Amino acid sequence: MTTTHQNTSNSEVQTHNTTGSPANIYDQMFVPTFFGRFTDLTLDVAGVNKGQTVIDIGCGTGALAAAAASRVGPEGEVAGLDPNEEMLEQARAKDVPVDWYHGPAEQLPFEDETFDSVVSQFALMYFEDKPKALQEMHRMLKPGGKFAVLVPDAIDRSPGFSVATELLHRLFGEEIAQSMREPFKDGDPDYLRKVCDEAGLRNAEIISAIGAGRFNTPSDFMKVEGSCAWTLGGLLSDEQLNHLYEESNNAFKPFQHTDGSITIDTPCLIIQAAKS
Ligand SMILES: C[S@@+](CC[C@H](N)C(=O)[O-])C[C@H]1O[C@@H](n2cnc3c(N)ncnc32)[C@H](O)[C@@H]1O
Repeated sequence: MTTTHQNTSNSEVQTHNTTGSPANIYDQMFVPTFFGRFTDLTLDVAGVNKGQTVIDIGCGTGALAAAAASRVGPEGEVAGLDPNEEMLEQARAKDVPVDWYHGPAEQLPFEDETFDSVVSQFALMYFEDKPKALQEMHRMLKPGGKFAVLVPDAIDRSPGFSVATELLHRLFGEEIAQSMREPFKDGDPDYLRKVCDEAGLRNAEIISAIGAGRFNTPSDFMKVEGSCAWTLGGLLSDEQLNHLYEESNNAFKPFQHTDGSITIDTPCLIIQAAKS
């Protein structure tokens, strides 16, 4: 099954403000241009609806949990969990009806059959014990509940990120290019199927879907990546970053719209499982 999800609205990258904590920079720069644009897709695959109880695992600064809270409304309940205290601090500062919990996906502090839906996006690839984490998510589902766990598909199926990696390789060498590939490493349906089998989730389905990041300019895309703790954050000097921004204007021309903005289509794989 393949679903397509395109969020076409544009949003500003606050490129002048890169002085906060990594979590603050992530929330201000990366969430509006990229992660925040995948929340509907993840919630749709999990079937999140009005009045449900939902938990977001690896919630980071809370983009998905906040979207879930607005979908379930006042009759529902939403929790978010993450082991990174800085990310949670940023999440807690948001005025959203979500209960935030500190901890890893592999050991969830909830009783069996607590939630109607369990959701997670762009986090599984960092979990130490993925089968254990999926078992925990399944354990907490109520009978009839569903979970959706989204990861980026392989980088060679993401033309925009492939161009970014080639550019980094050409300018700064293989080690820096490799850091851009890192978040895409779980993008293999056979690998995810194996993880599900190890977790004992025989009825899990691996769904292909497409979301998109949207940036005002090519250099905004690189500025966001350059400040992201999970890819290039802290790896390049100011001089190298400026060189990258200049070169990106040429490299991303094929992705540019007439107003100069770019859309970076990002294929994803989503593990969907239901509890009978
Ligand atoms: C790229 S961020 C994505 C955050 C969020 N889901 C979003 O869409 O913005 C990855 C998150 O995974 C979290 N993470 C890493 N290891 C984890 C684990 N074992 N259990 C739960 N979350 C984990 C990190 O702390 C980080 O907040």
